[in-house]
Amino acid sequence: MTQDELKKAVGWAALDYVQPNTIVGVGTGTTAAHFIDALATRKDEIIGTVSSSEASTERLKSYGIPVFDLNEIDSLSLYIDGADEINLALQMIKGGGAALTREKIIAAVAQTFICIADQSKQVDCLGHFPLPVEVIPMAQAYVSRELVKLGGRPEYRKDIVTDNGNIILDVYDLLIDDPDKLEVAINALPGVVTVGLFAKRGADIALIGDENGVKKIIR
Ligand code: A5P
Repeated sequence: MTQDELKKAVGWAALDYVQPNTIVGVGTGTTAAHFIDALATRKDEIIGTVSSSEASTERLKSYGIPVFDLNEIDSLSLYIDGADEINLALQMIKGGGAALTREKIIAAVAQTFICIADQSKQVDCLGHFPLPVEVIPMAQAYVSRELVKLGGRPEYRKDIVTDNGNIILDVYDLLIDDPDKLEVAINALPGVVTVGLFAKRGADIALIGDENGVKKIIR
């Protein structure tokens, strides 16, 4: 199977977790896009969605699926999203699609976060994928210097402005042996909006697609 076929398999498998008469949190990226396609087949059963990016909002609306402002709802039972890397503790690197801030907010609100990913995203140790950090533009140079002190090699992601009007630094060469500690350290830097390390709030369930089908891992 191709990587896209594996992404499609997990995107459609996630549909089993959608309950009628609920609002569903929807992530961003090519795997989440397959989930949106699947969700469209049950759009009349759900109340609607909250979305983690303008791109996902556009896709949801193209199917006629209602998209609510997160501030309009009191609680969210389910959030489905992809990842760039996921470890055995279901901690993740996210933000390859630059949507990390809204993704982290929705993940924080959701009672259950289900990560959908093809097997290439599963790792023993996070950090081979460059860690995205969303930064207020005027803090780019300062935050870059601080990320170097933390052992990383930040690179400015060209031609990207996030949905929140900020820039992304992708941090290479980090071997993340203590994800919780690094998340706290990077979050503490003035000018950092969000670090794409989902350590304290990882996924509750992972659906991983490989040649044998979709395997479920529970934290
Ligand atoms: C978006 O900002 C990311 O967090 C995505 O969830 C992540 O990059 C996975 O993307 P794909 O599903 O396209 O691989």
